[in-house]
Amino acid sequence: MGTTNRGLLDKATAKMTESQAWRSIFRHGYPDTPLNQSLVMMGNVFLHLHPVKVSRKAMKITYTWCLGGLSFFLFLVLTITGVFLMFYFVPEQRVAYANIQQITSAVAFGNLVRNMHRWAAHLMVVTVTLHMIRVFYHGAYKPPREFNWVVGVVLFFTTLLLSFTGYLLPWDQIGYWAITVGSQMASYTPLLGTQAHSILTGSPVGVGQSTLIRFYTLHVIGLPLVGAIFMAVHFWRIRKDGGEAGPPPPSRRELEQARARQETSVASLN
Ligand code: HEM
Repeated sequence: MGTTNRGLLDKATAKMTESQAWRSIFRHGYPDTPLNQSLVMMGNVFLHLHPVKVSRKAMKITYTWCLGGLSFFLFLVLTITGVFLMFYFVPEQRVAYANIQQITSAVAFGNLVRNMHRWAAHLMVVTVTLHMIRVFYHGAYKPPREFNWVVGVVLFFTTLLLSFTGYLLPWDQIGYWAITVGSQMASYTPLLGTQAHSILTGSPVGVGQSTLIRFYTLHVIGLPLVGAIFMAVHFWRIRKDGGEAGPPPPSRRELEQARARQETSVASLN
């Protein structure tokens, strides 16, 4: 590029970056200094989910396998497809089974959406479990992340309970008997067996209409709300705990010392 053209481009860039519109959006300079790099991270709604500095090793895909991110993605898929299913599903024992048949055979994209919901639910149990194993393997449950581990345990049980409550809703044989067995197991709880069983089923005789409405309410409101709140805390806490557990990033002094050592060795070679 000729010198005149470059001068024009520089002038145009300077005019743009110094304009009021630009400065109202970007409040930092070019990210080539540690200060500007920090300002970029903090001033961006998406990037600020990450701490200002993260360990390069912990950023590798093979470190986390993105299992937490995948679990979150599946939670979003389940929420969207679940809302679609709510338009058609009625939690009433005489019509629930027929509703599901209608969704899969008569509703446009009904079969696709129902299967997306089912597969995403199974997959989420797998990804959350693998994520938990990954976190344990890296010792990321240790201080300062012990609180986030406990938040994670709540998320783990919320995921399992979402699966458990969802299983009854189609009101088919497999779901009905699975929940009958599951709720019978609750009655073996020491001391509080009868209470645990009746809280779960809403009836002293077993799985029925009161169980269906309880499971439906928990499945579409109670548990997703608990999940969303605890996920928000979980993500906020990851940032506050300094990002992924791993070797800490080198401090500026360490970087300067390394650079000085490199310069000395280059000078001694010359
Ligand atoms: C709905 C379920 C969950 C979601 C959406 C979720 C999401 C995430 C995400 C996105 C990350 C950062 C990236 C990654 O490590 O993959 C993370 C990290 C973490 N998660 Fe989860 N998580 C869930 C369940 C759990 C469970 C069951 C546990 C443990 C009992 C747990 C404990 C942790 C801990 C301690 C970290 C920090 C890891 C580190 O510093 O290396 N999470 N989670």
